[in-house]
Amino acid sequence: MSDPRKEHVLVWDIPTRIFHWTIVVLVAVSWFSADNGYLRMHLWSGLTLLALLLFRVLWGLLGSTTSRFTDFLHPPRKVMAYLRGHEKSLYAGHNPAGGWMVAVMIGVLLAQAVTGLFSNDGLHFTGPLALWVSDDVSTRITGLHGTIFNIIVVFIWLHVVAVGFYLLVKNHNLVGAMVTGKKHPHLVPAGLNLSFTRLYIALLLLALTAGIVAWVFFQGVP
Ligand code: HEM
Ligand code: HEM
Repeated sequence: MSDPRKEHVLVWDIPTRIFHWTIVVLVAVSWFSADNGYLRMHLWSGLTLLALLLFRVLWGLLGSTTSRFTDFLHPPRKVMAYLRGHEKSLYAGHNPAGGWMVAVMIGVLLAQAVTGLFSNDGLHFTGPLALWVSDDVSTRITGLHGTIFNIIVVFIWLHVVAVGFYLLVKNHNLVGAMVTGKKHPHLVPAGLNLSFTRLYIALLLLALTAGIVAWVFFQGVP
């Protein structure tokens, strides 16, 4: 019989992994398209991101154990203890410091996508909800949209440096786990009991958030 302590353990469900690598691509596309004036492309990448982010919020409430906010948002005392190295527990999903970082990243990305809806390029292009506000407010929101993006870039750098630190200094390959979903048994708590939400629930939630975003899109169609 095979030794269970040698088999890699599934910790990340498929929806969370697909969510992660899709948002990586879409943030890059949003950046590229805004920088080069491809605003139709920018609209579509931004709206897709919005649907995925809304999905991730719902998945944080209803998804598999490691994807839930309750699993990775810990009280400040625990986060501080973890950062000071006083807390040696193993975590199947996000650790106490990473968990808050993830929540903040989802929050700022959501703020970026929502402000985009009210933005304009000063010429002919407007986000689908820009007509809901005055030109002046839309222009101010566009400024905010640019500022939030700078904040996002800082968070992405911190995120990639943190992941690199775990790989090179602590010898934890978190990236491999975000690809395959699996971690080495020595990196997860013993006697782990994770539950995985069924895939059709993820599809239903995604259909719901895509529907909301489609409705938003049609607000901008004359
Ligand atoms: C546009 C750039 C990126 C954004 C916006 C981003 C965002 C995120 C988010 C929101 C999560 C949480 C996943 C979830 O629970 O849903 C996450 C986790 C993660 N990301 Fe990224 N990410 C980016 C780039 C990268 C890159 C380039 C790498 C690899 C080098 C990476 C590696 C990881 C890993 C390993 C995790 C899991 C961390 C853990 O185990 O706690 N990310 N990322
Ligand atoms: C939800 C849909 C979105 C819409 C409708 C939208 C719309 C816009 C508009 C109208 C502009 C002004 C373009 C110009 O001045 O030429 C803009 C700029 C920009 N957007 Fe978006 N956006 C959206 C989502 C996003 C997302 C999700 C990101 C990145 C994660 C992003 C990143 C940027 C950047 C980097 C700029 C340039 C800012 C600057 O020049 O200061 N947008 N967007």
